[in-house]
Amino acid sequence: MSTLPKTLTFDTSTSRANPTPQPMKRLTVPRIRQRKGGEPIVMLTAYTVRQAQLLDPHCDMLLVGDSLAQVIYGLPHTVGVTMEMMALHGAAVVRGSYHAAVIVDMPFGSYEGSPEQAFDNAARLLKETGAAAVKVEGGKVLAPTIEFLTQRGIPVMGHVGLTPQAVNILGGYGVRGKSEEEARSIVEDAVAVAQAGAFSIVIEGVLESIAIEITGKVDCPTIGIGASAQCDGQVLVTDDMLGMFERVPKFVKRYQDMAGVINGAVKDYADEVRSRSFPTEDQIYQG
Ligand code: KIV
Repeated sequence: MSTLPKTLTFDTSTSRANPTPQPMKRLTVPRIRQRKGGEPIVMLTAYTVRQAQLLDPHCDMLLVGDSLAQVIYGLPHTVGVTMEMMALHGAAVVRGSYHAAVIVDMPFGSYEGSPEQAFDNAARLLKETGAAAVKVEGGKVLAPTIEFLTQRGIPVMGHVGLTPQAVNILGGYGVRGKSEEEARSIVEDAVAVAQAGAFSIVIEGVLESIAIEITGKVDCPTIGIGASAQCDGQVLVTDDMLGMFERVPKFVKRYQDMAGVINGAVKDYADEVRSRSFPTEDQIYQG
């Protein structure tokens, strides 16, 4: 017999780490899927609790991207990202949000081996983070894995076009789909991923005509990054759009100069420490 009180209700769609007076229901995967062709979907990357808290009210989805390789860990590319990194940052972002659906990237090497390997690692990410779904990079070759996961209760976001985990094959991050053959192959990738059951597909770094064709062909929402304003939604790396880095890809719009803001604040602090004008009376304890 259960000893739980009968009045206890579990609300798994809101974060208990962030109780609010009026908890908002989290956006669910089916509700995101229903946005195909409707109101554009807003997605940004998030890696930390505070970042998630600040982005959550404005976003439909928060992506715990493996771009944390470069943004958080100073790695040259995403190949070195581990399951531990994704699990810890994923859990932090879930704790910092209560409205957006949180999606966690599966790191390179955690899903390509077999559908079973992908299931074990995806299940671990969902259990340890509380996220709604995982994202995997790849097209036709990954379709059986995407089908395997979705049929076993794991929602999957696809990612086609420029797939940064394949940097060692691609040789860089140049725009994809310039030849007719490559363009056709990317469209086929997206269609295969959608038919396998992906609830949404990121299209990265392709000629606009390809993004438009895919968006018209697949029945799930497409999320563009360096793709087209006609996608069903957009994503950017948050630190790029906030102006944290000097060098960003052509497709990034900087909405702020956060590096400049931080530089100015830290310079003021350093000047005041060196001139002994900080701390002032207001900031120190007197007996
Ligand atoms: O890792 C990431 O941040 C991503 C987005 C750029 C789509 O995959």
